[in-house]
Amino acid sequence: MLSYRHAFHAGNHADVLKHLVVIDLLRYLTQKPAPLMVIDTHAGAGRYNLAGREAQKLREYQEGIGRVWQAKDAPVVVTEYLAAVRELNPSGELKQYPGSPWLARQFLRPNDPLRLFELHGNEARALAQTFKNAGRAIRVVKGDGLTLLKSLLPPPERRALTLIDPSYETRRDYSAVIATLKDALKRFATGTYVLWYPQLVCLESRQLPERLKRLPADWLHVSLSVRAPTADGVGMYGSGMFILNPPWTTADALRQSLPWLARQLAQDEQAAWTLEVSTIDGGAKIAPTEPPSRRAVAQNTPWRTRSRQP
Ligand SMILES: C[S@@+](CC[C@H](N)C(=O)[O-])C[C@H]1O[C@@H](n2cnc3c(N)ncnc32)[C@H](O)[C@@H]1O
Repeated sequence: MLSYRHAFHAGNHADVLKHLVVIDLLRYLTQKPAPLMVIDTHAGAGRYNLAGREAQKLREYQEGIGRVWQAKDAPVVVTEYLAAVRELNPSGELKQYPGSPWLARQFLRPNDPLRLFELHGNEARALAQTFKNAGRAIRVVKGDGLTLLKSLLPPPERRALTLIDPSYETRRDYSAVIATLKDALKRFATGTYVLWYPQLVCLESRQLPERLKRLPADWLHVSLSVRAPTADGVGMYGSGMFILNPPWTTADALRQSLPWLARQLAQDEQAAWTLEVSTIDGGAKIAPTEPPSRRAVAQNTPWRTRSRQP
């Protein structure tokens, strides 16, 4: 029984990181004229009313999009993200927040298929309603996105971006995403896959990035902690995105944005970010040259990557 509803969390710090990464990927991948399939395995409702009862209950958006919405000095990736959120808020007042399907649609060309999966009945109905007259390139399917992803790979277009954004309501989700990505890479090794995960104190969450790094593909891992974990271990203190087969430009774009973003979203002096990349060379993954770095925002040390080009 699923109880997670994204409307309670829409626009929070994790959505900011997730959506600006997704926008960067979409912008890069739609530069080539060849069609691109976009798959969202955990689509949610598509868009969210920030004045609604759910968003108002916790007001998480105030610590996320609310902190960057009016920024005048944002780095380029953040500016593109803010422009996409503004499309939904033409009056200039932040009232609506776009979910990943809504953002994807803004970037797709008429011949780019968008496939949206959502398991929760109410969310799937809201999603279908949101995209009711959106045309044949967009399909909403109520079902398990992790299982149904198989049916789309390899895509006829031979180019695809897949977003996997589970709610991690059960600990099984952590193993399920690894199994899904392994299978997806076998079916379609050259696709770009991007997985979101929460930073929680539980072992499954802490171990997930290291497990993902063992997958047979180039990868980019970005994380943003907005505060220290609480003493009782309750709650999400940050989030991360793990990209398989990332565009080569994404690391630079994020490197230029993360220090600024971390300063804006920091809830205490433990706020920090990491950026790591690794490439495959002749079939063997190059070992990272340095241990992972966690840089406190206050240290003013802009970034560290773990990258070695073949
Ligand atoms: C974090 S929310 C998605 C938010 C959305 N991707 C966005 O960025 O706007 C996760 C969604 O996945 C749905 N969900 C959970 N398990 C699922 C599954 N196996 N397949 C498809 N959807 C699932 C939940 O109902 C929830 O709406």
